[in-house]
Amino acid sequence: MPAPQTARPTGYDLMAGTGEGWPHLLKRFPDIGAITAVDISSGMHRRAMQRLHAHRAHKIAFIEDDVLASDLPDASADFVVSTFGLKTFNRE
Ligand SMILES: C[S@@+](CC[C@H](N)C(=O)[O-])C[C@H]1O[C@@H](n2cnc3c(N)ncnc32)[C@H](O)[C@@H]1O
Repeated sequence: MPAPQTARPTGYDLMAGTGEGWPHLLKRFPDIGAITAVDISSGMHRRAMQRLHAHRAHKIAFIEDDVLASDLPDASADFVVSTFGLKTFNRE
């Protein structure tokens, strides 16, 4: 990912699941203000926050949303990432 051009950038992780990318993202760009995890399932997010990400919880927000029919506002993020998300879908 190219370096975001804003101070304390915020962005979305689509189909965030357990957030395996967050440690790497925050290590590479320590200035990140917040990552908003977007996932259709809040349960997986809640468990991952307790088990894996408690010490970075102040940098992680969550929105329960279907990314294929999303209400996320236009131009509301400085970056968007998705790791191992697309593999979930069939070709259609
Ligand atoms: C393989 S996991 C993603 C792994 C995750 N990105 C990571 O780095 O740990 C797939 C995720 O996509 C979510 N998901 C599937 N369909 C979705 C949809 N239509 N909208 C949002 N999330 C969806 C699932 O709930 C699941 O958490």
